[in-house]
Amino acid sequence: MTKLQFPLDFVWGSATSSYQIEGAYDEDGKGESIWDIFSHTLGKINNNDTGDVACDHYHRYKEDIELMKEIGLDSYRFSISWPRILPNGKGEINQKGLNFYKELVDQLLEAGIEPVITLYHWDLPQALQEEGGWANRDTIKYFVKYAEVLFDELGAKVSQWITHNEPWVVSFLGYAEGEHAPGIKDRKQALQVAHNLLVSHGLVVKKFRELDLTGDIGITLNLTSVYSYSETDKDQEAAQLMEEYINGWFLDPVFKGSYPKKLAQIYENQFGKIDIQAGDMDLISQEIDFLGINYYSRALINYNPNSKFYGIESIKPAESDYTAMNWEIYPDGLYDLLTKLNQEYTNKPLYITENGAAFDDQIIAGQVNDQRRINYLKEHFKSVYRAIQDGVPVRGYYVWSLMDNFEWAYGYSKRFGLIYVDYNTQKRTLKDSAYWYQQVIEENSIGID
Ligand code: BGC
Repeated sequence: MTKLQFPLDFVWGSATSSYQIEGAYDEDGKGESIWDIFSHTLGKINNNDTGDVACDHYHRYKEDIELMKEIGLDSYRFSISWPRILPNGKGEINQKGLNFYKELVDQLLEAGIEPVITLYHWDLPQALQEEGGWANRDTIKYFVKYAEVLFDELGAKVSQWITHNEPWVVSFLGYAEGEHAPGIKDRKQALQVAHNLLVSHGLVVKKFRELDLTGDIGITLNLTSVYSYSETDKDQEAAQLMEEYINGWFLDPVFKGSYPKKLAQIYENQFGKIDIQAGDMDLISQEIDFLGINYYSRALINYNPNSKFYGIESIKPAESDYTAMNWEIYPDGLYDLLTKLNQEYTNKPLYITENGAAFDDQIIAGQVNDQRRINYLKEHFKSVYRAIQDGVPVRGYYVWSLMDNFEWAYGYSKRFGLIYVDYNTQKRTLKDSAYWYQQVIEENSIGID
């Protein structure tokens, strides 16, 4: 067996987010988030599941850190629930909520696990939604204040910060498709939200620099590698538009200080101008320390005049393998994406802040044999390895997810974890993939046949 050896300082981690695992939705002074409201609205979530209890991580974090230790994680990426810190999104700080994260960080550090904090993984305080949420520019200043509270409290201990997780999902699934909280279907508003999220990212980075903190700050984008189904002009144009829609709409502002031209024109013709103020693009494109990438699948695109979205149609090849989310398994796409980012956008360090797969895991006699997840991870690690060999500065990798959890609109029906969670008893069981990952981390290499 050949071993592919990773760089000595390569970071092996795993990721979660607050609403998906914490539960304790109304405890210790926490305010309501838009996801509390959304999941409590009948018909929004598969099986009407909610995050009220989720994995009960709020009460079981010590046990969960023990499991991270057992796997051997170098680092753990989690997010902070804004309404736990500021129940109304602004104003009074809820000390108990803050203490939870201070304790979590201390315990992680004691366990030798580097904490990486995402400031916003979708659980906006409902009080701010009532004032328009991210469509209202005022939310930006409250976000900066919230970030400042955390920088003051945790800035000396936490060395890696992520402003936003997947602003594409927040804007387009939350405000255009309505599949996510706050469940709005208004594409013009979604474009304003995307812009406001980006400005808030810029202002938080600026604040971080002003405070002279020693750590690093970046943003996590959901990115995919886009391919044209054929060589025809029509298909290639559709693929190009998809590239602008899914990747460019956030990558271009962050690294080039402008929106992708073609799609920007289409949107403007259709919806008119959104509110972009003087200086916004400079704020958005100021220097960051790293880029976080969430990669799950590719997009294979052809042109279909009947498609409701500018002729863009996504093809799902029959011969491919799919996860339980019906996402095509396409590890080469990660290699293509990493090299493209490095060539066209940035030579800053890149982190895979999420990659992983949902499968219909079964627990049998206390064991979860998830060979398909092991294969998925191994193939994606190989792509990361190849990119590193080619000189792309990929510095770390975080499996999504540490444990099975609340998969947004899918509720608990999709299991992404390295750890199996029995939601009736809250018993955690390491899946075979967790033991496999343990060995990868220990040897800092993957074995290939
Ligand atoms: C999100 C996670 C989510 C995962 C799988 C990403 O879009 O950041 O919260 O669970 O993908 O869908």
